[in-house]
Amino acid sequence: MSLNIRIASQLIAAFIVCLGTAGVGRAAPPGDEPLPRPAFRYTGADLCVKCHRSEQGEWCDVATTAAWRHDAHSRSHEALSSDNERTRAMEVALGIKAAATASCVACHTHPVDEPAVDEETNVLHAGISCETCHGAGSGYLDPHMQKSWRFLSSAEKEAFGMHDLRNPVAKAKNCLSCHLGEVATNRIITHQMYAAGHPPLPAFEMEAFGAGMGRHWKRVWEKSPQIQEQAAKAGYETEGACELSRSLVGSLVALQESVHLARDYAAAAETNAKDRPWPELAVYDCQACHHVLAVPSWRQEAGYGQLVPGRPSLVRWPRRLAAVAFEQAGMATDVDALLSPVVGVLNSRPFGTADGLRRVAEDSGREIDQAIEALVRWRRDETLADRERVAIEQILASGQNVGDFESARLLAWGLIHGLSSNADWPEDVRARKIAELTALLALEFPTPAYPSPPAQEKPFWQTSLAAAPATDIGRVRAAFELPSAARKPAPTVIEVIPTPR
Ligand code: HEC
Ligand code: HEC
Ligand code: HEC
Ligand code: HEC
Ligand code: HEC
Repeated sequence: MSLNIRIASQLIAAFIVCLGTAGVGRAAPPGDEPLPRPAFRYTGADLCVKCHRSEQGEWCDVATTAAWRHDAHSRSHEALSSDNERTRAMEVALGIKAAATASCVACHTHPVDEPAVDEETNVLHAGISCETCHGAGSGYLDPHMQKSWRFLSSAEKEAFGMHDLRNPVAKAKNCLSCHLGEVATNRIITHQMYAAGHPPLPAFEMEAFGAGMGRHWKRVWEKSPQIQEQAAKAGYETEGACELSRSLVGSLVALQESVHLARDYAAAAETNAKDRPWPELAVYDCQACHHVLAVPSWRQEAGYGQLVPGRPSLVRWPRRLAAVAFEQAGMATDVDALLSPVVGVLNSRPFGTADGLRRVAEDSGREIDQAIEALVRWRRDETLADRERVAIEQILASGQNVGDFESARLLAWGLIHGLSSNADWPEDVRARKIAELTALLALEFPTPAYPSPPAQEKPFWQTSLAAAPATDIGRVRAAFELPSAARKPAPTVIEVIPTPR
């Protein structure tokens, strides 16, 4: 059967499956109800691992399984064991059993039971597995092995149940559902959990965290020239043009998801106040309450915008980089103005009202989508270096008056992606700048190791926790200086004078 006919028949099948489960997927599960079942069946990581143990030809030339074994996700369920000291303390403080608590399970494990260990490969399965991220496999297993699959659109892949994680929007949503939180999948981390000992989740920059988990993929632009040619011919355009443009898209999605988290939590609090009491402090900016009481302080200097001074705002860290993203998309959007309906609700009373937040949070969506659309249209052509350079300079300018550690981190990661690929500054200048920011803001991830990291390797959240209070924001701002004079001189422009006829 040709792929097209197959796709048509599978689409119909997928549609019927969707009809069968309509109404299950959307609603926010109150409290500790089990997760909604996906429209497709999980086939089990055993199966994926059987093929993806070695390279799958030229398209997938990374041995995924080996990378995943070294990835913290493959053993993320171990954090729910009472043998873990931190977890035991949380269990006592909260009066729960972590492994039996739906929200812990939703973020730390794969949602269905699978054999604990693949005997042949010794791979653990109870952690976050292939299908937790890529989607349940029953619909795409067959067709995804055909070469024509590569060039399907994200929407077509999604119709078979595969989240097209090469697509920066799908990828950011996937990662943020756990690394920020998502109500629809019950991935909600509460302030009680934090206070009982859960590590604060660091600000999330998709491409840096992708590298930090030990990446088991290559970009199409890193693959063989032959593959790149085929991709160009097929009109392949899922990935976007460069790490920096992807990072900017990720910041826009994070901005949107931070608002959605508050909105969806507010809706859940209205229908189920017992399990979802209002307000939930963890959907607000941690630094609003957790900072040193000094006068003057960085918090006062950073200002409150349109917010009544002293009121906690929603999560702030995506905003600076998102502002650069809007500029790059050629839009005049002011992030504060974009969020002003939300700010209005927060001004009406501290923390806002559940009803108010539920109603106003939709407004930002259209402009964010428009900016994403512009950024994914960047191409790897002769204009790319110029676009990158302008974005780099905007990030540098924003960093020079940044107010807080987490926002500075997001800017720094974006900058590093830009400087890593843009040759407008000499190599040694770029390398020094990257090293300086990495040290100052503790940006380095531990080298992923399996089965458990060597004792001296702290998980990333631990290094970031230690660095935040000790960081002098003045030094951070100074580190965002990279004089344009250091830039390589532009090539002498030779004016082309049209030959007279
Ligand atoms: C029978 C072998 C086999 C099994 C089982 C298998 N794969 Fe694959 N997979 C492949 C091959 C071959 C390719 C590369 C196809 C190509 O060359 O375009 C691939 C490609 C992929 C891709 C890249 C798709 C894209 O759009 O670029 C992903 C993601 C993937 N597999 C995930 C999975 C997951 C998750 C599972 C388990 C549910 C799985 N695979 C099971 C053989 C397999
Ligand atoms: C919203 C998703 C989410 C929820 C809910 C959640 N966690 Fe976590 N947890 C994470 C993430 C993400 C990390 C890793 C943070 C990082 O390193 O960036 C983590 C880290 C941890 C760690 C530290 C692991 C280590 O390697 O040091 C422990 C322990 C832990 N979680 C236990 C729990 C328990 C127990 C619960 C339920 C009470 C829970 N988590 C609920 C997402 C979640
Ligand atoms: C934590 C989420 C996560 C888990 C777990 C995960 N993946 Fe992936 N995978 C990704 C992301 C994200 C990408 C693509 C990212 C990009 O292009 O920026 C990817 C890409 C791939 C690709 C494309 C490789 C290429 O060369 O382009 C394959 C194949 C794949 N994954 C298979 C697997 C298999 C098999 C497993 C389980 C052993 C697995 N993944 C587990 C997130 C995950
Ligand atoms: C199903 C929830 C879930 C999803 C989806 C998810 N993660 Fe995670 N991630 C976790 C948890 C839980 C941990 C902590 C594991 C541990 O240490 O026990 C973690 C750990 C990590 C770490 C290691 C952090 C450290 O402290 O060393 C990185 C890096 C990471 N994730 C990146 C990503 C990226 C990139 C994506 C998207 C492609 C992603 N994650 C998707 C839940 C998730
Ligand atoms: C509206 C104010 C507010 C916000 C926002 C807030 N907290 Fe708290 N937090 C508190 C208060 C009050 C306590 C109790 C302090 C005490 O008694 O020592 C506390 C206690 C804690 C504790 C345990 C004690 C300590 O100070 O170490 C942790 C950890 C914590 N919060 C983390 C967070 C994280 C992470 C966030 C953001 C996701 C956050 N908080 C957001 C007010 C807030």
